[in-house]
Amino acid sequence: MNKDIVCIGAGYIGGPTMAVIALKNPRRKVWVVDINAERIAAWNSDNLPVYEPGLAEIVKKVRGKNLFFSTDIEGCIRKCDIIFVGVNTPTKTFGRGAGRASDLQYWESSARTISAAANRDKIVVEKSTLPVRTAEAMEKVLKTHPEHKFTVLSNPEFLAEGTAIRDLLEPDRVLIGGPRTKEGDRAVKELAAIYGTWVPKEKIVTTNLWSAELTKLAANAMLAQRVSSVNALSALCEATGADITEVARVVGLDSRIGPKFLKAGPGFGGSCFKKDVLNLVYLCETYGLKEAADYWNQVVAMNEWQQERIVTRLLSETFHTVANKRVAVFGYAFKADTGDIRETPSRHVVGMLVEEHAKVVVTDPKALPNAERDLAAMPAGSVELEPCPYAAAKGADAIILMTDWKEYTELDWKKIRRLMRSPALVYDTRNCLDLAKLAKLGFKVLAVGR
Ligand code: UDX
Repeated sequence: MNKDIVCIGAGYIGGPTMAVIALKNPRRKVWVVDINAERIAAWNSDNLPVYEPGLAEIVKKVRGKNLFFSTDIEGCIRKCDIIFVGVNTPTKTFGRGAGRASDLQYWESSARTISAAANRDKIVVEKSTLPVRTAEAMEKVLKTHPEHKFTVLSNPEFLAEGTAIRDLLEPDRVLIGGPRTKEGDRAVKELAAIYGTWVPKEKIVTTNLWSAELTKLAANAMLAQRVSSVNALSALCEATGADITEVARVVGLDSRIGPKFLKAGPGFGGSCFKKDVLNLVYLCETYGLKEAADYWNQVVAMNEWQQERIVTRLLSETFHTVANKRVAVFGYAFKADTGDIRETPSRHVVGMLVEEHAKVVVTDPKALPNAERDLAAMPAGSVELEPCPYAAAKGADAIILMTDWKEYTELDWKKIRRLMRSPALVYDTRNCLDLAKLAKLGFKVLAVGR
């Protein structure tokens, strides 16, 4: 039987994931619900609240056919048998574990809503990133229901922003964790059948519930650690004359290591890495594993140091002062192909430049509306936002390239040189520009790890 599906939470995870599930399961109805009416209205409009290459096309194809966006959370829970929970679990900003633990309030209220609205047995699928053993708590809340039974599964999302649709259509793996009971096995099979309409069987991996929950944190922590490792090496390269792009390329040729996630840069950003590593730190502490907690904490500390290093090096190349100098920050998104600015390294860099009394101008092809909100608390007049990179470069003493947008590699750098003031410093923190060419054009060039 093709059971209908609802996903609570119409964010970066719920929207794209359900769009692809609906596309590949035309005989099932798929609902995405959220308490935020504005967000739902946006999903129902031509202006989707999430930008992902390929997403709008898919939504257009299935919306109104078997994909629906609604604020009627309880009604949709009643209609459906499979309930995904994809609400956000940001880092707690208050109370115990503030700054490290996950804030589970939205998640717990979802559990209570499910329990209150349920009219028959349901499968509940955790999609949000959650600390290990959260399903146990979810079960406890749901068990308070007098008649109906709920089976809780963990199906963590591994999609990266900017490539979410590709990651969903061609995943390296789909992970489903479930309780090792008869109902658990049955529920795992039902969920596997949804993905099985397009994902090859051997890529659908099933584990016990706790392994699935921990794997998400583990995978993100290992990736974040690679970025911090390569960034730690980039500092040593700068001090010794080694070139991080060469070192990383050769290290990556070792098939045991592989080439991915070895790009030195301004440090990792995005909604997951910092949050998940800190959550791992908190879990280690909770279980009394201080050394393990310190180890993972250093991955985050290293990341912040990388941004400080960038500004320190800029200062040492500008007579230790950028006061009243115009510094153009190219890129505010935490990486290319997204408008997302959560935990973006640019914020930290802009903050430090403002402290140094630089006249900062920020440009970005997709993230300026988010940047505007993000930078609203900066001292009045300290940061200017400018959609056109040429206008941003005009009269600038330095450009710091923070986001690896393709647009920036394709700029007319000759024109930019003319617009800037000497010595026209370009600081390529992403190693994506042709430095030799820029030097020939008369720029003073700096890059991370070179
Ligand atoms: C990540 C995970 O990849 C994904 O599986 C998880 O579900 C959510 O978190 P995302 O945050 O969208 O996805 O971005 P990702 O492409 O993984 O990059 C994370 C950060 O690391 C970015 O700031 C990126 O610029 C940085 N990075 C990545 C590097 O600095 N160097 C690299 O070599 C790779």
